[in-house]
Amino acid sequence: MADVSVDPPSRESPDAYAISAEFYDILQADRDRARVRRFYGRDVRVARRGVLDVGAGTGRVTLMSLADSRVPVHAVEPTRAMRSLLMTRLAALPVDVRMRVTVHPGGLAEAALREVADVGICHNTIACLHPAARRALWPAVADALVAGGVFLVQLPPDRLPPHEATHVLPAQQVGGHEYGGRMVMSADADRIRTRFDYWVRGECGVLREYTETFWMWPASRAEVIGELAGSGFVPLPERADPAVLAVGLGRR
Ligand SMILES: C[S@@+](CC[C@H](N)C(=O)[O-])C[C@H]1O[C@@H](n2cnc3c(N)ncnc32)[C@H](O)[C@@H]1O
Repeated sequence: MADVSVDPPSRESPDAYAISAEFYDILQADRDRARVRRFYGRDVRVARRGVLDVGAGTGRVTLMSLADSRVPVHAVEPTRAMRSLLMTRLAALPVDVRMRVTVHPGGLAEAALREVADVGICHNTIACLHPAARRALWPAVADALVAGGVFLVQLPPDRLPPHEATHVLPAQQVGGHEYGGRMVMSADADRIRTRFDYWVRGECGVLREYTETFWMWPASRAEVIGELAGSGFVPLPERADPAVLAVGLGRR
């Protein structure tokens, strides 16, 4: 077979999550696994056509969807560092399970999916999208879902933090090393600066330290509902957890 050179998807940012990828699962996995099942498990279990995971990251929602449904799963993940971890997870699955999941390595619009799923999920992702990118996502989600499909989105913070706030990520032991981190959020004009500090400690003290900064944009529930309405989504009854917005795609 001839060698073929294929350009990477245009929106891929090669460096995004380059640092956080190493620490993401070890520092956040347990809490997030339970949260994802609580937020989306019921919808995934009744999926009939397919599940769409927008911003799949290392695969928390994708893996749950493969385990809890029998339908095809579409994982959209533009960032190489996160996608690499997702692929390692998928490689460890039995072949028959792996045959049900397709990984799309760019933005959702680039994947050009049409009516592939009746359940769409976007977990812990839209807060990190610039408002223009967030608004550009909704028509592509609508295209990817069948009429009557449900879309579940974890909402961004609805306002700027009034003062700097620190959230400690509980330290985890891996062999002789302790992995730790914290997230520091502060307002910066209309954005939220979200700085992650990570460290690895051994017996003699700190072995490695890193910092990676992300930007987040607040948006209210009403604002997101209004944006989604432009792509044919109508609000569904509120979920138990106000962090998740559920909308349904009307007939088109
Ligand atoms: C904070 S991570 C969350 C990953 C995963 N949903 C989870 O909760 O574990 C956000 C993810 O969204 C991805 N992402 C960023 N922009 C995106 C876009 N326009 N479309 C889809 N995913 C995007 C990032 O690459 C990153 O993996």
